[in-house]
Amino acid sequence: MADETTPPDNPAGAPPPVAAPRPPAPRPAAPAQPDLAGRTTSAMARKDTPGAPARAAAATRDPDDTSPLLTRRAWMGLAWGAFSAASAAALAATGRFMFPNVLNEPPQQFKAGFPNEYGIGVDERWKEKFGIWLVRTPEDVDLHVSGFYALISVCTHLGCTPNFLSAENKFKCPCHGSGFRTSGVNFEGPAPRPLERARIVLADDGQILVDRSRHFQRELGQWTDPEAFLKA
Ligand code: FES
Repeated sequence: MADETTPPDNPAGAPPPVAAPRPPAPRPAAPAQPDLAGRTTSAMARKDTPGAPARAAAATRDPDDTSPLLTRRAWMGLAWGAFSAASAAALAATGRFMFPNVLNEPPQQFKAGFPNEYGIGVDERWKEKFGIWLVRTPEDVDLHVSGFYALISVCTHLGCTPNFLSAENKFKCPCHGSGFRTSGVNFEGPAPRPLERARIVLADDGQILVDRSRHFQRELGQWTDPEAFLKA
């Protein structure tokens, strides 16, 4: 006999029972993916633990990948290179300080060849190496005889190097515009006095010998010195 208080199992017209929603099944763990440096996520996780960086680096380093080590070696090489260059520069500067004349000064004397190798006028072949213009004149400005003199190519204003302007037959200083005649006498610009002459004599072998260690200044009456002019 049916219990009137118990609902029938499937009474006619009743909707079927709705099943309760089941929780989603856990998704399988994704495989470990390497990052750009080749480390796996598991290795990165280990890196967060104390003392892990070294172990992680050792565990994840490709045996063939030596790039971090090479970078350190490259930096060490650069550092040693810079240190060596600085040491060499300091040594060179010390040498120049200790022996300035030996290393930098051009020779004070030189043979300039035979007189018959020169024509009248300014010869520039010795200017670059010795700072000398060798001039052959038919009549010297003070002695009024023909011969040679050696002009020192240093401006008497502030020491620049003048240029010889053959078209104008004069020396012109590029710094402040001083002008000098081929005799060396100043005639324009701020230069206060003529160019200086160097000692000039005939050597034993008949060549012209120029000696820059001895200077002659016109304003001191030295251009008439026998060694300030070579008669020829
Ligand atoms: S240095 Fe030659 S004009 Fe001043």
